[in-house]
Amino acid sequence: MTIQIITIDGPSGSGKGTLAAKLAEHYQFHLLDSGALYRLLGLSLHQKDLIDELDHQDVLEQSVTIATNLDIEFRATETGTLVILDGVDVTSTIRTERVGEFASKVAAIPVLRTALFERQRAFAQVPGLVADGRDMATAIFPEAKAKIYLTASAESRAERRVKQLQGMGLDVKIGDILANIQARDKRDMERSVAPLKPADDAYIIDSSTLNIDEVFNLMTTYVDAQFAN
Ligand code: DC
Repeated sequence: MTIQIITIDGPSGSGKGTLAAKLAEHYQFHLLDSGALYRLLGLSLHQKDLIDELDHQDVLEQSVTIATNLDIEFRATETGTLVILDGVDVTSTIRTERVGEFASKVAAIPVLRTALFERQRAFAQVPGLVADGRDMATAIFPEAKAKIYLTASAESRAERRVKQLQGMGLDVKIGDILANIQARDKRDMERSVAPLKPADDAYIIDSSTLNIDEVFNLMTTYVDAQFAN
């Protein structure tokens, strides 16, 4: 039986995570949150006091071994997926800005990306997979039949993030958030290894002025057509 693969790439804040989960539920496919793998590796290297030493060759080699053997589990529960590292629940820890910074460091190092390659490929299992990330279509699953690139203007992503943080009771300034997003976009798009860019044959959706249901409908229409071919 062939394994159907849907990739969703794009910048953070475009709604990728939410849409990927909705698609996985809709098609009853497995889900790969590849950003979580980078976050888990970043956290693990930080816990071992290695994250600031990656420019030393011996530390880098040790980190490759850690990446290859990372003890992680994505455990589905009624209230959502728990993320477990070395037997410890790190579901909320990996979402902090700090761990995001560790992940971003890890993501810029080619040998660590390579070390996570097989790990990501292993998520492809019958009947199918929704793979969410930055290079799912361009590097990890180039054979995917459905390749989606979800983007949104920096301004609309900043507005969404402000609402989300305000909902958590935090006092934030849109200008600061927007500047962060623009800096991260620049870093992601200009890095030499696996830069953020759509695959040549990707279906590009700009969600700036669309709600989740509208984006979801565009996606399923496209995916159904791709799988029918
Ligand atoms: O999507 P996210 O914020 O959880 O991703 C965390 C970091 O990992 C971010 O710096 C982008 C990077 N990343 C990547 O380089 N390639 C992926 N496939 C997924 C995430």
